[in-house]
Amino acid sequence: MERTRSWAEPYKIKMVEPVFMTTQEDRERFIREAGYNTFLLRSRDVYIDLLTDSGTSAMSDRQWAGIMMGDEAYAGSENFYHMEEAVRRYYGYKYVVPTHQGRGAEHLISQIMIKKGDFVPGNMYFTTTRLHQELAGGTFVDVIVDEAHDPESNFPFKGNVNLEKLEQLIKEKGADKIPYVSIATTVNMAGGQPISLGNLRELRALTNKYSIPIVHDMTRVAENAFMIQQKEPGYADKPVAEIVLEICALTDAATMSSKKDALVSIGGFLAMNDKEVFEKARNLVVVYEGLHTYGGMAGRDMEALAIGITESVQDSHIRARVGQVQYLGGKLLAAGVPIVRPIGTHGIFLDAKKILPQLTQDKFPAQTLAAEIYVDSGVRTMERGIVSAGRNAETGEHNYPKLELVRLTIPRRVYTQAHMDVIAESVQYVFENSQAIRGLEMVHEPKYLRFFQARFKKI
Ligand code: F0G
Repeated sequence: MERTRSWAEPYKIKMVEPVFMTTQEDRERFIREAGYNTFLLRSRDVYIDLLTDSGTSAMSDRQWAGIMMGDEAYAGSENFYHMEEAVRRYYGYKYVVPTHQGRGAEHLISQIMIKKGDFVPGNMYFTTTRLHQELAGGTFVDVIVDEAHDPESNFPFKGNVNLEKLEQLIKEKGADKIPYVSIATTVNMAGGQPISLGNLRELRALTNKYSIPIVHDMTRVAENAFMIQQKEPGYADKPVAEIVLEICALTDAATMSSKKDALVSIGGFLAMNDKEVFEKARNLVVVYEGLHTYGGMAGRDMEALAIGITESVQDSHIRARVGQVQYLGGKLLAAGVPIVRPIGTHGIFLDAKKILPQLTQDKFPAQTLAAEIYVDSGVRTMERGIVSAGRNAETGEHNYPKLELVRLTIPRRVYTQAHMDVIAESVQYVFENSQAIRGLEMVHEPKYLRFFQARFKKI
């Protein structure tokens, strides 16, 4: 038996990129000019960037070497075949169609499978996923367990599907109105929460009964697999790579944003086992993304992706990745800051309703809190609350989500433990000095995915 040791990175640093601290006075101006929307800040004005874990990973020396091996042939690039081989080997799906990123794959599968008037149940929504379902004529229905909407519930598998809710929906609408069940590993909007293999197996049995396919948003599947290894009885000794294969085998098709788990800056794919769906996807991809052997990716990026997939499912990697997130979460919990529990895998989610109880939800507590943290320390975070939830397509009213969160998303292999300490100090400071904060008013609202470009002013 090895003695227990603290988590540590299974690599050393070979190249660095300087970051710069600004003054508080500057930051007040930058955020005002950005309409109090952290998406509209310039990256050079950010000290530690926790906006997203998407496309922000550090690549390994091997991946950079792969970049030099790009075969930029328009058709039949060697790198496509490497990527296809990696998808088959580590995820187990038979067919793969590359796309420029995750939402490209979401677009294709939604157009192929959803008809007008359909219902698409899922374990909580994701912004781009739901929008593509709606644009294809479907209506998203949330069938996640209730615990997922409660930031204080310590339930270990908040990504689970409430199977009674799902079966009731199937009976009410009819199985022919449900083109597929949409399952994310992990659930981003719930705080990076995993689904258990036990629940997924039961879901498979239920969907088999009604002949409904499962489409898997596998954006953070290795992180989900790690949580299963840590928390689900019977998996402690199973390598993450095996658990990943087991998850994928319970689903029929998958959309991937390889900008997360798979450690690259750009790319994605749609994978599936059904030949007919594959043929349709191969046909559509040339309309929207590019030829079926590049789908919007450069050859070099497909090579880096093939290598990134391999690295992403190694136990040593995923243990340190999630270990760093848990370290930051542990510090904030110790300081009494209200965060979503259990701590998720890709970031920490602050409970803005609890931190700013003086603000009603239409004063955008999470948007406000993200702006305040930026002004305090130059740490850039992201709103995941009422702004992200958008408006109800029928009534035009704001959707009022139960969760009103600020996400501190940790890029993979990028920041150090000292950076985590600075982040924790700043969040604690803002939390303890939040009484005078008054909230925001929206002054510009884009029609689609408004959180990216909306502008606000201080009340
Ligand atoms: N599904 C999930 C669960 C995601 O988190 C994302 C992206 C997508 C799909 C879409 O993929 O960006 O490659 O088109 N999430 C990023 C984030 C943007 O910051 O959480 P994409």
